[in-house]
Amino acid sequence: MPEHPSPTTSGHTAPGIYTRLVMRTLYPLWVHGLCHRLAWGVSNRWLRRAYRLWPGHTHLSVGPGNGTFLRHLPAGVRELHLLDFSPHCLHLAARAVHHRRGIAVRPHLQDVLDTWKGLDEGSVDSVDCVMVAHCLPGASLAEKRALFCEAYRVLRPGGRFFGATVLTGGPGVGVNAFARWLIGAYTRRGWFSNQGDTSTGLVETVRGLFPDADVQVQGCTGVWTAVKR
Ligand SMILES: C[S@@+](CC[C@H](N)C(=O)[O-])C[C@H]1O[C@@H](n2cnc3c(N)ncnc32)[C@H](O)[C@@H]1O
Repeated sequence: MPEHPSPTTSGHTAPGIYTRLVMRTLYPLWVHGLCHRLAWGVSNRWLRRAYRLWPGHTHLSVGPGNGTFLRHLPAGVRELHLLDFSPHCLHLAARAVHHRRGIAVRPHLQDVLDTWKGLDEGSVDSVDCVMVAHCLPGASLAEKRALFCEAYRVLRPGGRFFGATVLTGGPGVGVNAFARWLIGAYTRRGWFSNQGDTSTGLVETVRGLFPDADVQVQGCTGVWTAVKR
């Protein structure tokens, strides 16, 4: 049976949008079903494949949401750390893997821009951070660098970091009318903060730590995969 110990905490709280009801009902239909394809242009197939291929024995999921993509983790994952400022997301993500035998789940209730307490340097084999960075405050991705630095710190040498985030400009980024409308509405509500997030900024931020990182754009979403040297 998976272990569900009490999360380690850092005192930051999540906005009301990340409730259990929203994350269980609206989120999969609206975000994964509609927005990924029609607004953000990111491929769910690419995401599922990333979760199948890259996680290692000890995996950390940053901002796991309702845990939909964690259902695709390979059998080799035996320890799963979950880091999120929403207790509801931590609970739902743990539930998404609760049927799997022999996987230990370690929740961390905290803000991703803080130091990741309870996660030592070089302690994990892989990290994912999918569709989180565009929610974080900051005038550009450079101002959200703490997230990328923490991923680098906790990864062991040879460990892999992959992720995705919605961008608003830069080479290759196509923001269609639906995406532009959504970004405006979400920004006004404080759910998104990505007006200054560009593909150039993503490349600079990721490659500043992981020089060989592969960074691509799908629609208006930047996706990356990187290995710690
Ligand atoms: C848009 S959802 C993405 C969920 C999931 N990765 C997916 O793609 O389905 C953003 C997730 O990041 C978490 N999150 C957003 N901002 C955060 C922050 N500052 N600190 C910790 N978690 C955060 C939310 O609680 C939520 O789980």
